Amino acid sequence: MTAAQAATPRVLSGIQPNGALHLGNYFGAIRQHIALQDTYPGQALYFIADYHALTTIHNADVLRGHVFDVALTYLALGLDPARTLLFRQSDIPEIPELTWLLTTVTGMGLLERAHAYKDKIANGITPSVGLFVYPVLMAADILAYDATLVPVGKDQVQHIEMAQDMVTHFNEAYAHGAPVLVRPEPLVHPRVAVVPGLDGRKMSKSYTNTLPIFETGKKLRKLVGQVVTDSTPLGQPLPFDTCNVVSLLRLLCDDAELAQIEQWYRSGQRDGQPFGYGHAKLLLADKIDAHFAVARARRERLLTPEGRAEIDAFLTRSGEAARRLASQTLDRCRRACGLR
Ligand code: ADP
Ligand code: TRP
Repeated sequence: MTAAQAATPRVLSGIQPNGALHLGNYFGAIRQHIALQDTYPGQALYFIADYHALTTIHNADVLRGHVFDVALTYLALGLDPARTLLFRQSDIPEIPELTWLLTTVTGMGLLERAHAYKDKIANGITPSVGLFVYPVLMAADILAYDATLVPVGKDQVQHIEMAQDMVTHFNEAYAHGAPVLVRPEPLVHPRVAVVPGLDGRKMSKSYTNTLPIFETGKKLRKLVGQVVTDSTPLGQPLPFDTCNVVSLLRLLCDDAELAQIEQWYRSGQRDGQPFGYGHAKLLLADKIDAHFAVARARRERLLTPEGRAEIDAFLTRSGEAARRLASQTLDRCRRACGLR
């Protein structure tokens, strides 16, 4: 099959195994990933970006733990092993090979302009070559499978644009413009809001302000209790439009429920009783608890020895299927470069 014949859209995205996944990851990325398996059955590929994680994690056990946790989380949340691939990036040796080929057509200037890289430098991180080359590895991830649609958050769009540049340069440099590599497009969900964390900033592992997806019961209520609000006293009208608790409730409630909550906020009363942030937070904790109840039960089952073996077998099987695709692409690339 030539690249030009890859007519069916193929969806691909990577997930960094860099810590416990949180509600920001769920509403900002995971939910869309899982929904795409219905839109493009059999054409959705996801991988756990363990090579990428080595730019920040230098502890084998920690990395292995995070990799397992990504797989467990996606399967618990509804990734369907019968229709969708989920594999370890490092099971595909074609990826570092394609990365090298792409470095030969990538200007230093292009990489120097990467926002993610510049932000890290601005935050005082001493860059490794690996961190600098990160966008090339990411391009290889996409191009190895002829992926045409790449669901990502806005922060990753520039990296996809870089991959587009690499396609053009590679095809021109090595194939007189023939489509040896296929141009990918970013797929940014138009309605995804930034999920606020406990402190009101963007929820992020780096700010330690996260709500983990599978927290439940008392612990969850305690965490939700830490969501920052103003100091309006119980029974007074609350600021519905600017409240962090409401921003989180919006992700979990339907319109009728929200209208009801808005009325409680604006009046500071519920059923003739004073209503305050404590009540709103309890409501939020209950909503989160209920929303992920099915996923938590699935997760428990996957944590048994049989479940763990299933996860392992699925990752391996997915890796083999993904590798078949990548090896076809690399075959075309090697030929184009004169390596065969
Ligand atoms: P973190 O900031 O916790 O390290 P990542 O950068 O690894 O999270 O996030 C992976 C993806 O999850 C992002 O590209 C983005 O799409 C989504 N995401 C993360 N945090 C949020 C958030 N607070 N709101 C919406 N989406 C988010
Ligand atoms: N860089 C992405 C992130 O930090 C993860 C990633 C690696 C990725 N390779 C990819 C995403 C390829 C999409 C396609 O979230």
